[in-house]
Amino acid sequence: MSAMPYLVGLRLAGRRVVVVGGGVVAQRRLPSLLSAEADVVVVSPDVTPAVEGMARSGELVWERRRYRPGDLDGAWYAMALTDDPAVNEAVLAEAARARVFCVRADDAPRGSAVTPASGEQDGVRIGVVTWGAGDERDPRRAAAVRDGVIEALREGRLDSVPRRGTAEGEGALPGVALVGGGPGDPDLITVRGRRLLAHADVVVVDRLAPRALLEELRPDVIVVDATKLPRGRAMQQEAITAALLEHATAGRFVVRLKGGDPFVFGRGSEELTELVAAGIPVTVVPGVTSAVAVPGLAGIPLTHRGLAHEAVIVSGHVGPDDDRSLVDWGALARLTGTLVILMGVDSLPKIAHELVAGGRAPGTPVGIVIDGTMPTERVVVATLADVAEIAEREGVRPPAVVVVGEVVGLRPSLLPAERAE
Ligand SMILES: C[S@@+](CC[C@H](N)C(=O)[O-])C[C@H]1O[C@@H](n2cnc3c(N)ncnc32)[C@H](O)[C@@H]1O
Repeated sequence: MSAMPYLVGLRLAGRRVVVVGGGVVAQRRLPSLLSAEADVVVVSPDVTPAVEGMARSGELVWERRRYRPGDLDGAWYAMALTDDPAVNEAVLAEAARARVFCVRADDAPRGSAVTPASGEQDGVRIGVVTWGAGDERDPRRAAAVRDGVIEALREGRLDSVPRRGTAEGEGALPGVALVGGGPGDPDLITVRGRRLLAHADVVVVDRLAPRALLEELRPDVIVVDATKLPRGRAMQQEAITAALLEHATAGRFVVRLKGGDPFVFGRGSEELTELVAAGIPVTVVPGVTSAVAVPGLAGIPLTHRGLAHEAVIVSGHVGPDDDRSLVDWGALARLTGTLVILMGVDSLPKIAHELVAGGRAPGTPVGIVIDGTMPTERVVVATLADVAEIAEREGVRPPAVVVVGEVVGLRPSLLPAERAE
C-alpha cells in the first residue's frame, strides 16, 4: 500500500509543464493545465485532433516527435501519459533526477505526483485523491466524491459562502438576483439560478416560474406571490418593484424568480432599470425561454434545414386590431419561416385571420402547446384556416405557445408515435 498523497495547489501560470503523450488521456488533462495558465509543451509524434486544435490556436506548443532525454529541462511539472510503459518509465526517471514532480498515467501509484479528481464551482476548486492498493487504481471512487461535492455546491445543498444567520442584515449576499426559471419543469432552471435560489432570504415569484422549487426553500424564506392571472387577480408591477426594493434595501438577498427568460416578454428590463436606478446590486441569470423550449420539447423545432431559416417571437397580448400593438402583422404574414406567439390565446382568431389576409397560406400548420413541460401539457394542431374553430373546440387556454409554420409538420417524425398523436 502506498503512502497517503500530500495535496497541494500548484501555481503554474507562466511555468513550463511538459506533457509526454498526446492521446485522449492528455486531451483530458490539458484543459486544467491551460486554465492554470501553464506554459504547456506536448511531446508526441501524434496527438488527437482536439490537442492539435489547442496547438494550432497557440494555447500550447506541440513538439511533434518522440520523447528524448532532456525534454524536462526547465520544467516545473511533468506528465508521462503515453501508452508505452518504457517511455513513461524513462520520463519518470528523468523527472526524479531533475526533482520535478511527475504523474504517470499507466501506473499511477508509481508517479511522484497524482492527478486528483478535480472540479470547479464558482471560484471553488476541489481535488480528491484516494490511495491504497485497490482504490488508487480505481479513479471512479475519487470521481464519485468530486461529482457529489460539485453537484451539492451547484444546487446550493452545500455552501461555499457562509450562510447568513436568521437575524436580518447579517452578512447577507447583497441585492437582487433576477432569475429566469425556465418554462415550468423544475429541472429546466439553470444551475446558477438554482444555487442562488438556495441562498435567498426572499423569493418574489411569478405564476409561470417553476413553483415546485418553492418547496425546497428554507422555512424562514419569505415568499412574495407576484402572480398576474390573465383576466384575473394580479400583483401590480409597481408593487412588485416596490417589494424588491424594500427587501433588498433591508439587506435581504432577494431572488426575483420569473418564468422562462426574464428578458423575453418578462418585464425583466423594467425591474432591472428600477433596481439599477436605486443603486441595488443585481445579478441577472438568463433562463430557458418557453418560446423555444416549450415547442421544442413537444416535438416542434423552431428551425429546420431547408424548411425554416427564420423564427420570430411575437407577443399576442394585444391583437392585430389594437392600436397598442407594435407588431407589423403584414410583414409577419409574408414570412416563410416560423412565427412563435406568446400570450396569443385570446387574439388567436384575429391573428390567424390577419396572417391569411396578409398572404400566408391558409393551410400553414399551427401547433399550440398548452402547459408546456408540465404534467398537464397538451398539444393541439390545426391550420391557419381552422385554428380559431379548433382552439375553441379544444378549450385552448393560457399559458400556451402558438407556433405557425411548416416546422409543426415535423412533429410526428420527432416523437414516438404515442406522443405525436
Ligand atoms: C408573460 S410571458 C413570459 C414569457 C417568459 N418570460 C419566457 O421567456 O418564457 C407568458 C407567456 O409565455 C408563454 N408560456 C410561458 N410558460 C409556458 C408554458 N409552460 N407553457 C406554455 N406557454 C408558456 C405563454 O404564452 C404565456 O402566456
